[in-house]
Amino acid sequence: MKNLNADNITEAVIERLANTPDPRLKTIMTSLVRHLHEFAREVSLTETEWQQGIEFLTRTGHITNAQRQEFILLSDVLGLSMLTVAMNNEKPAVCTQATVLGPFHVDDAPHYALGDDLANGAEGRPCKVQGSVKGVNGQPLAHARIEVWQSDEKGLYDVQYPDRSTHQARGILTADAQGRFHFQSILAMPYPIPHDGPVGDLLTATARHPWRPAHLHFKISAPGHETLITHVFRRGDPYLDSDAVFGVRESLITDWVEQADGSYRLDYDFVLNPV
Ligand code: BEZ
Ligand code: FE
Repeated sequence: MKNLNADNITEAVIERLANTPDPRLKTIMTSLVRHLHEFAREVSLTETEWQQGIEFLTRTGHITNAQRQEFILLSDVLGLSMLTVAMNNEKPAVCTQATVLGPFHVDDAPHYALGDDLANGAEGRPCKVQGSVKGVNGQPLAHARIEVWQSDEKGLYDVQYPDRSTHQARGILTADAQGRFHFQSILAMPYPIPHDGPVGDLLTATARHPWRPAHLHFKISAPGHETLITHVFRRGDPYLDSDAVFGVRESLITDWVEQADGSYRLDYDFVLNPV
């Protein structure tokens, strides 16, 4: 097609995708082109503005490395991460809801026995966590695998300390035969997502804060069940209604109860969806 203009270029690009062998890729690319072009038309995108957009994406790529994934942060603050989690994790109401994985999960967290202290030297007020892992009929999921990770009292994860060589405030536990677990840790605190890069600039330019409410991350798996990736949030946290990454779900908010000695206690039961 020649003589392309603002009215016919979209169909011309889509026609060019006609021979895409993978049907799913064809569907995705066709829809992406349609929506990108419609977006440009809707805002009457200028050449200068699109150049700024390209510079923003270029900076996002340049700051990304093995420790820092700025594209995930961008997806998170645009709500796209949570949208894909929500769309792909619809479960019976009895099941624990999923939320975002976040960038601070590691693949080589240490294993602990039930009752151990996962803080492993991380600083914070002591917090005992206990609960259970069950199936949709209330049956205990014996020996479920429970992975936990969290921030310390400064609102930082171990991987955010450049000089820290051991893992802290994260670990993997195995539930007992009744699906129960308990461990010692520290009180997780609210924290700002990394905001010293282009995503932080975007938050500032749109008058948004970078904070996440206090939470514990869990990744729980048991044979015959979907792996659950979720958080447990602290009731009363000031950022529950304005989480920078839109990850809060009402059902995941619970009381972290202060004890007479100043330590905390958190109880939460998880229900996994059968595959
Ligand atoms: C987190 O909860 O660890 C997290 C999630 C999204 C962006 C940054 C951090
Ligand atoms: Fe987190």
